[in-house]
Amino acid sequence: MCRLVHVLIRVEFSVFSLFTVEAPQSLYTVEYGNNVTLECTFPVNGKLKFKDLGVSWEKKDELKQVYVLFKGEEDFKAQHSDFKGRIKLLKENLNLGQSLLQITDVKLRDAGDYRCLIEYGGADYKTIHLKVKGILCDLQLSEN
Ligand SMILES: *[C@@H]1O[C@H](CO)[C@@H](O)[C@H](O)[C@H]1NC(C)=O
Repeated sequence: MCRLVHVLIRVEFSVFSLFTVEAPQSLYTVEYGNNVTLECTFPVNGKLKFKDLGVSWEKKDELKQVYVLFKGEEDFKAQHSDFKGRIKLLKENLNLGQSLLQITDVKLRDAGDYRCLIEYGGADYKTIHLKVKGILCDLQLSEN
């Protein structure tokens, strides 16, 4: 009897300690040329252990690498040329369990689905959709 209770408690504990990534906002709309910051959150208990952390953002539809941080080190080698010089991850926010990806000078081709993946003990991801409003396109359409 005692053993059974012990087993049940262990099972419940493992269910509640599943690692999950959340996206507080799943759709962002930004005007061409502006900046946008996409957000994912993940559980951090106590002080963040950078050595155990892996963060990646990729553009899902075309499998373009946007950002990679592995064991606390940023790695831009595989970053797609579309994003060169326009990506910043706000690293200080990782301590709070936030993976904030800042894209500056947003282009029309930035529109699409972004996958935010986090490895920290467990691993999980969420998908975020980015819409880009093109002022120039709207003007051209209204002239016809
Ligand atoms: C976008 O961010 C960059 C770098 O932080 C800044 O220099 C620029 O003024 C921002 N642009 C807009 C439209 O807010």
